[in-house]
Amino acid sequence: RSECEHEWLSVSMSGIGSSATHDPKIDKQKRMDGSNYLVVIGTTQQKCIAIFALVCCFAVLVALIFSSVDIWGDDEDGITEENCSKDCHIVLVENIPDDLSFSMDGRPHLPVSVGFHTLLDQAKHSIEVVSSAWDLNSWDLETIPNPAKQGQLLFQRLLRLKSRGVKLKIASSLTNSTELKALAAHNAEVHFVNMTLFTRGGLHSSFWIVDRKHIYIGSADMDWRSLSKRKELGVVVYNCSCLALDLHRVFSFYWQLHERDYIPSIWSKRVTALYGKNNALQLQLNSTPATAYVSTSPELFCSKDRTRDVDAIYQVIQSAKTFIFISVTDYLPLVKRSFRGTSVTRYWSSIDEVIREAVVLRGVKVRLLISFWKKTHPLTFNFVTSLKSLCVQLYNCSLEVRFFSHKEQNDDIQLGLNHNKYMVTDNAVYIGNHDWVGSDFAINAGVGLVVKMNGSAEDRGVTILEHVKATFERDWRSRYAQTAAALLLLPGGKEATAAERKGWGRYHHGNRLKAKLFRRFCCSNFRI
Ligand SMILES: *[C@@H]1O[C@H](CO)[C@@H](O)[C@H](O)[C@H]1NC(C)=O
Ligand SMILES: *[C@@H]1O[C@H](CO)[C@@H](O)[C@H](O)[C@H]1NC(C)=O
Ligand SMILES: *[C@@H]1O[C@H](CO)[C@@H](O)[C@H](O)[C@H]1NC(C)=O
Ligand SMILES: *[C@@H]1O[C@H](CO)[C@@H](O)[C@H](O)[C@H]1NC(C)=O
Ligand SMILES: *[C@@H]1O[C@H](CO)[C@@H](O)[C@H](O)[C@H]1NC(C)=O
Ligand SMILES: *[C@@H]1O[C@H](CO)[C@@H](O)[C@H](O)[C@H]1NC(C)=O
Repeated sequence: RSECEHEWLSVSMSGIGSSATHDPKIDKQKRMDGSNYLVVIGTTQQKCIAIFALVCCFAVLVALIFSSVDIWGDDEDGITEENCSKDCHIVLVENIPDDLSFSMDGRPHLPVSVGFHTLLDQAKHSIEVVSSAWDLNSWDLETIPNPAKQGQLLFQRLLRLKSRGVKLKIASSLTNSTELKALAAHNAEVHFVNMTLFTRGGLHSSFWIVDRKHIYIGSADMDWRSLSKRKELGVVVYNCSCLALDLHRVFSFYWQLHERDYIPSIWSKRVTALYGKNNALQLQLNSTPATAYVSTSPELFCSKDRTRDVDAIYQVIQSAKTFIFISVTDYLPLVKRSFRGTSVTRYWSSIDEVIREAVVLRGVKVRLLISFWKKTHPLTFNFVTSLKSLCVQLYNCSLEVRFFSHKEQNDDIQLGLNHNKYMVTDNAVYIGNHDWVGSDFAINAGVGLVVKMNGSAEDRGVTILEHVKATFERDWRSRYAQTAAALLLLPGGKEATAAERKGWGRYHHGNRLKAKLFRRFCCSNFRI
């Protein structure tokens, strides 16, 4: 008997004890004297003892049933890890804002919105959604054409799921979302996870599970910008109940945190990970053999056997042989911790060090594509300069960094933002929910999907890896990806004046230290 099952046993015994005893004497005794049954037995007849014995037997029986049959088994459609489907179909989905222009090399991208609508078309029983934001409607946008149109369409379809008999379940850390209230009024079940309480972070996971069969994981969340104005990347995997079953366990974990104010130390085996970095799922992806698993963060949210996001990233970088291409909004190896009531910022080496090792010791070519936007932390430049300097005068060493920057005169800082969070290597792809910022992994909940492929690119043909790689190279070669040195130049090659550079520091007006660092970086003679 595992400890978990004991827990169920005691729960069901007390449950049955209170519902199955109708003797008014016992009820009265119970009211007077909390839960002490023995007192009751001592004062009643043999008949009562017999009833008690029966109740006990019944409770044990129920407990046995509970422990052998899955507690959440009723909605698992009879699919188990023994007979789930491993013959899967994976597609890359992207959102590319209208005003960004890329050379497409004849390879059209599948829009994220089409991915979501296809999933909605397929849904027969249930859709489970986790998203950091719920802002599909953008109530205050009046411009024509309305950039939030795709978001509104998606929201309307989610509202209409009820009429098709499809259950919608949502886990969220948002407390006062108008859209979640509207969905709840249309029969969606919404479970609130108090992330403030657990880690002071947010539920930043972004994924869908449809009928325990099809899944979506990616950077796009339930925000109208994800379907129009922000650059996003994710994957949809169809007919893949094995992977869906495992991702569902992550969902179950969030689901169980509803109205809890602690993380239980003993969990049901229903949230134990099925696959991980040491026992990845072997599957067919578009008829190519591959392995895959789901990782999560923060550490507190890793149930038994679940691989941490950071360890997944670590493994993917370590197993790269020739190249690693990384595309994230922010890269910052720092973590903010609260220590004795004050907030302390520390260097967070986990990812930084393994990149250094790959570049210097294994000669792996690394490209880092980071977004340059109003929230770019000024120290980002220092950390990437430090990475780049590793290759100085070193033969067969290549680490390049470019900044994705799309300048637009608009108040909404997220418009045109490269919101991608992925990495692709010669043999694997990692698609996650977090930027590579220490604090994100430490406090925010997110998931990642690792897909590894065997053999050389020539042997395996065009796979999801080649698709993601081509996408990265398209972005890398685009005019939006600039070196740090080029960022300091104005259009036309003229160098920005000190006054103009100072203007950039204004992004950080809220924080004088940051602004100072930023100015010092921009305006000294120091060049990347
Ligand atoms: C999978 O196996 C379970 C029990 O092992 C069984 O109840 C279920 O019907 C099976 N499902 C399918 C689709 O074969
Ligand atoms: C919740 O949202 C509504 C409408 O947006 C607003 O009127 C209300 O003040 C909010 N409540 C809290 C507690 O933030
Ligand atoms: C979440 O937890 C925090 C910290 O305990 C508490 O202050 C807050 O009221 C909780 N939020 C909700 C909506 O229960
Ligand atoms: C999923 O499997 C079903 C039945 O095996 C098939 O009809 C359908 O086309 C598949 N879907 C995809 C996207 O591969
Ligand atoms: C550079 O490093 C790669 C990876 O270790 C290796 O395969 C290649 O032979 C090296 N090239 C030279 C010229 O040493
Ligand atoms: C990958 O290739 C190696 C050697 O070629 C082989 O031993 C291993 O079983 C393969 N793994 C998968 C998942 O096909």
